[in-house]
Amino acid sequence: MLKIAIVGATGYTGLELLRILSCHPEVEITIVTSRKEAEKKVREIFPFEEKFGELVFEEPQPEKIAAKAELAFLCVPHGAAAEMAKALLERGLRVIDLSADFRLKDPLLYEEWYKVPHKAPELLNEAVYGLSEIYADRIKTARLVANPGCYPTASLLPLIPLLKARLISPEGLIIDAKSGVSGAGRSAKLRLIFCEVNEDFCAYNVAAHRHTPEIEQELSLAAGEKLRLNFTTHLIPMNRGILATIYATPLIFKEKTLYEALYDFYVQKTFVKVLPLGEFPHTAHVKGTNLCLIGLKLDSRTGKLIIVSAIDNLVKGASGQAIQNMNLMSGFLEDTALKRRALYP
Ligand SMILES: NC(=O)c1ccc[n+]([C@@H]2O[C@H](COP(=O)([O-])OP(=O)(O)OC[C@H]3O[C@@H](n4cnc5c(N)ncnc54)[C@H](OP(=O)(O)O)[C@@H]3O)[C@@H](O)[C@H]2O)c1
Repeated sequence: MLKIAIVGATGYTGLELLRILSCHPEVEITIVTSRKEAEKKVREIFPFEEKFGELVFEEPQPEKIAAKAELAFLCVPHGAAAEMAKALLERGLRVIDLSADFRLKDPLLYEEWYKVPHKAPELLNEAVYGLSEIYADRIKTARLVANPGCYPTASLLPLIPLLKARLISPEGLIIDAKSGVSGAGRSAKLRLIFCEVNEDFCAYNVAAHRHTPEIEQELSLAAGEKLRLNFTTHLIPMNRGILATIYATPLIFKEKTLYEALYDFYVQKTFVKVLPLGEFPHTAHVKGTNLCLIGLKLDSRTGKLIIVSAIDNLVKGASGQAIQNMNLMSGFLEDTALKRRALYP
């Protein structure tokens, strides 16, 4: 059994790891951390948690974690993750970081967007970007995986194959994305309380969302040239789910060719499904699953390719993909514990 630590186990992504890993036959969670709930049992905070309910939350101290675990999931805010990752790697653990700390390769870009200097820039080259379907080979041997952001996962999965195949232009890409409220985490914030969110729908961080440089970094790699794009995020009054509507300029004006290129790229992949032409995904169809569902249409009137992509932000957008990466790193079947039906309706 692989011994697992969840650092930041009282947050939404930590809790989602507990939920999914409780069905994983090859791992044992040996330590969970929380500063606020330290010394309480997991079941005191989450009474529904049966398998790991008797575990006791501990302070996030690297020595304690290293004494009990071989692989750690970091479910903590950016900044805190870099320091913890460094301390755990030095003690021989493998690390999957769900925060943004190791996603950007350029520490100055990190400082520009996250407004703090990077706390472990020497690890940035080693960190493998954990977009499982694209970087599986590198993930398999990684010590440190930078799990992608939720919006980037929904955006990159459809766009990378089309850019690599030179079927769409790197110029003029527009990503219009909506997220459920759990995307902002479990700590209390005024703008996220029920009356502020319920029956409301708004754009936020317009032209300034921190996932922008992450998406641009990965799409630039796929395109083989530096690109910039418009990325607008919206908060939608539901618990989970991301829907990204993407507008691209095709370089070939044949819907069937564009469709087949994307379909063929993912046909052997368990978790990315390109829907039949004319069908588009719903967030309810991926809720609780590790799936990314994609639909596309070429608008013959305007010449734009419109792609719609849906994920559950807490599963394929965070903890599910992190477990997929752990499976790859550990030689387990890639879909172990991850083949779940949607929680539909
Ligand atoms: N929510 C999503 O959909 C999503 C998707 C992709 C990636 N992510 C990223 O994943 C990470 C976790 O997200 P989340 O939504 O689970 O956050 P969250 O609900 O706010 O939970 C954060 C967890 O980290 C702990 N924590 C906070 N500050 C800490 C610190 N300085 N040192 C150690 N532990 C600390 C908290 O417990 P204590 O305060 O009690 O220690 C809590 O358990 C974030 O970096 C987030 O950006 C989130």
